Amino acid sequence: MNIAVFDSGVGGTSVLDHLQSKLPHTRFYYFMDNLYRPYGKLTLSTLHKRLLAKLRTAIQMVPTIDLIVVACNTASTQGLDFLRASTNIPIVGVVPAIKPASAMSQKSVGLLATPATVKSAYVNNLVEQYVPDKPVYLYGSTELVHLAEEKFWKGSVSLSKVRRELQALSIHQDVDCLVLGCTHFPILKEEIQAILGESVQLIDSGSAIAERVFFY
Ligand code: DGL
Repeated sequence: MNIAVFDSGVGGTSVLDHLQSKLPHTRFYYFMDNLYRPYGKLTLSTLHKRLLAKLRTAIQMVPTIDLIVVACNTASTQGLDFLRASTNIPIVGVVPAIKPASAMSQKSVGLLATPATVKSAYVNNLVEQYVPDKPVYLYGSTELVHLAEEKFWKGSVSLSKVRRELQALSIHQDVDCLVLGCTHFPILKEEIQAILGESVQLIDSGSAIAERVFFY
């Protein structure tokens, strides 16, 4: 089986890790779009153009793709229907883990994602549908996408830069479960956890996506 995994940058590798351990005999092809990253700042029409361009490149390079994993919350929340209408290849997307976070949280849920994801109708629907009984706080950050890239390529990142960004976002003190709704953010999980403390549970969609692809 051949699976193409796609993100704006290295964020999708946080999903790829789960996929590779769940499906060790599958061949994965990873595509990124460094020229147009961060996706969280693109207009919808540019995002769609880029997704289509990347889809074409992927099909050209690997004509035998069996499945595409859009390992990017921004592209999934705003471009999944568009992409599905453009190809017959099955596509699995990533959705911020708001539903499981709601079950885990006692007080309030936080969503840390890109500015585009937190503003999306998709996320608003998820919140309305799955978190009827507690407050949900939304935080959009592009800086954390840059810092995750920095950590991935350099091997480390300055903790104070991550702290400065989290302080600027002023995460509400009642948030006890924070959804990492951008695939870049699990790369900074250690730093985010150290800064916010153990009382905040961090959750992402990596293992759920791997599970979904496994049973595909
Ligand atoms: N990793 C992506 C996501 O999950 C996109 C980050 C970006 O390029 O803005 O949203």
